[in-house]
Amino acid sequence: MADPASSCVLLTGASSGVGFEAAKVLSAQGHQLLLLCRSQATADQTLSQLSGTARALICDLADLAAVAEVCSQLLDSGTVLDALVLNAGLQYAGASAAQFSAQGIELTFAVNQLAHQLMASLLLPQLLKSARPRLVITASEVHNPVSGAGKVGKPADLGDLAGLRAGAGFAMVNGSDRFDGNKAYKDSKLCNVLMARELDRQLAAAMPVIAWSPGLVITRNNGGFFRYNKRSNPLGMGAFAFVARDLLRITESPANAGRLLAQLVTDPQIPPGFSYYTNKVVSFGGHRLESTDTSAEGADLTKAEELWRLSEQLIASSTCR
Ligand SMILES: NC(=O)c1ccc[n+]([C@@H]2O[C@H](COP(=O)([O-])OP(=O)(O)OC[C@H]3O[C@@H](n4cnc5c(N)ncnc54)[C@H](OP(=O)(O)O)[C@@H]3O)[C@@H](O)[C@H]2O)c1
Repeated sequence: MADPASSCVLLTGASSGVGFEAAKVLSAQGHQLLLLCRSQATADQTLSQLSGTARALICDLADLAAVAEVCSQLLDSGTVLDALVLNAGLQYAGASAAQFSAQGIELTFAVNQLAHQLMASLLLPQLLKSARPRLVITASEVHNPVSGAGKVGKPADLGDLAGLRAGAGFAMVNGSDRFDGNKAYKDSKLCNVLMARELDRQLAAAMPVIAWSPGLVITRNNGGFFRYNKRSNPLGMGAFAFVARDLLRITESPANAGRLLAQLVTDPQIPPGFSYYTNKVVSFGGHRLESTDTSAEGADLTKAEELWRLSEQLIASSTCR
């Protein structure tokens, strides 16, 4: 992105946390922002806090029809995108009962992965019209069972994608009918890494396709990413945040994580092709963004292709009803 002032960046998950902080940086740098927000209220609140040129696109990612509609409006308007940033995400930590999207798809997978695959597939033509396009996907180190966070609880694994093969209504992507909110989140982040791999294969290294992990990001007000945590009451969450942030100092601030996301969106040094970056804890209270290997399953190109194909089928069958 040689000319930052003329770059058009579409960002999902811009109303809170990492995405909001990235939007502040990018808008101050003069980029034109298209911010996908779930509601007019969150859009208004977000836009009112930004200094530069930004427009909101209202869309609930839990509804594939809404995603298709907002993409079709962009296609009709001929908007050229310089960067597509797929950052929105949610986690139902501690939940043992699945919730479902408008199309009857488990919500973690539907929002974190499927909606973003649909957006990427529909908007690729608009990215390919840019002189310097790029795709950035916010994944997480929890996708990797050998990472510190990936080891806590059941590890990510998609098995042979049996749930996805069975169609809408599955609890877990690997076909298990026992829902585990923490594992569903890890699985969705593994899907994000595989989606980046598959998009890079389809694009034949025509642009940077960057997956990344922001580290453990906790907001001061116990809101943000941990707001849907079913197990902990506000006091429990506050204690967790105090220990992780103030005693162990292993957390990253939303502002720093947002700066890193903005950097990944704009850094001209990042080469075309797939890359994966992790914001690693390197010292007491210190982090460094490093190019890192994904998990072995996250590097499985056959699985990446199969995940894309089955997801495409699920999108088609869900939106044709
Ligand atoms: N926080 C962490 O420790 C951490 C660690 C690793 C990776 N990540 C990843 O980082 C990304 C950003 O997370 P965050 O920490 O910034 O969390 P956050 O503060 O909860 O922000 C999540 C964003 O996603 C949006 N979103 C969620 N569901 C949506 C839906 N159905 N339709 C439209 N937008 C929706 C939210 O919109 P609303 O404001 O309307 O809810 C919000 O803007 C996620 O992909 C997450 O998986 C986070």
